[in-house]
Amino acid sequence: MNIAVAGGTGTLGRHVVTIAQARGHRVVSLSRAEGVDLVSGAGLAEALKGVDAVIDVANIQTLNGKKSVDFFTAVSGNLLRAEKVAGVGHHVALSIVGVDRAPVGYYAGKLAQEDVVRNGGVPWTILRATQFHEFAPQMLERSSLGPLVLVPRMASQPVAAHEVAAALIDAAEAGPQGRAADLGGPERKQMAHLVRAYARKHGQKKRVIEFTAPGRLWRAMRNGSLIPAAGAAVGRQTFGEWLETDP
Ligand SMILES: NC(=O)c1ccc[n+]([C@@H]2O[C@H](COP(=O)([O-])OP(=O)(O)OC[C@H]3O[C@@H](n4cnc5c(N)ncnc54)[C@H](OP(=O)(O)O)[C@@H]3O)[C@@H](O)[C@H]2O)c1
Repeated sequence: MNIAVAGGTGTLGRHVVTIAQARGHRVVSLSRAEGVDLVSGAGLAEALKGVDAVIDVANIQTLNGKKSVDFFTAVSGNLLRAEKVAGVGHHVALSIVGVDRAPVGYYAGKLAQEDVVRNGGVPWTILRATQFHEFAPQMLERSSLGPLVLVPRMASQPVAAHEVAAALIDAAEAGPQGRAADLGGPERKQMAHLVRAYARKHGQKKRVIEFTAPGRLWRAMRNGSLIPAAGAAVGRQTFGEWLETDP
């Protein structure tokens, strides 16, 4: 197949590109660094010529609800309009388990993205996954305050990014299916535990302090709203196994 990967240079996108190529697909990656701006639409029409399926893993790093909604609606809208013109038969989008149970901040954008995809006029698949194992190091980097790391209480069931990437390619190969079964990792852990384990493995002598963050989003993260319900697909690689392979 000819597959376009929106955000193919990102944390997840790199896995999608590598695995799709290894399976013999022809892959084009869409990112600003590669001359395609998904927010303005510049370069998109040319890049989608001859493409069978688009896998959208583009992202903005923000906690601001308006910025998130603006980004994800613009990117999905531009992709879907260009897909219709180019005759792309399948739009595969990655979302997050529990976005509808905490539709605020960043998640408001993901929920808006799902809505645009469902109504975009191109046959679609939406896969919701839990946090990637890489979420813990991102938290370590963003929440460090000198020797301290302040981690909000958060129940998580993290999954390997390469397994999410493989599931997205499976979906592209299988054809449009609407909402796919949610995908989570094999174990439930508190985020502070994962951040501590990552810091220890990488020799960072930081003190990880878990705290109760205010607001609806963090309440949802605490109370297990981001944990997949029964019937979800379960990834194989544990956080500990991923840590052993992480460079
Ligand atoms: N992190 C998690 O734990 C998690 C869990 C479940 C689902 N997800 C979802 O996974 C997806 C990927 O997340 P990620 O962490 O892999 O993202 P990421 O590392 O932040 O990568 C973002 C990608 O989007 C591209 N991009 C950003 N703005 C763009 C623009 N205006 N035009 C074209 N490309 C643009 C970036 O390339 P350039 O900067 O070069 O443009 C990059 O390739 C997101 O949809 C996220 O919601 C994440």
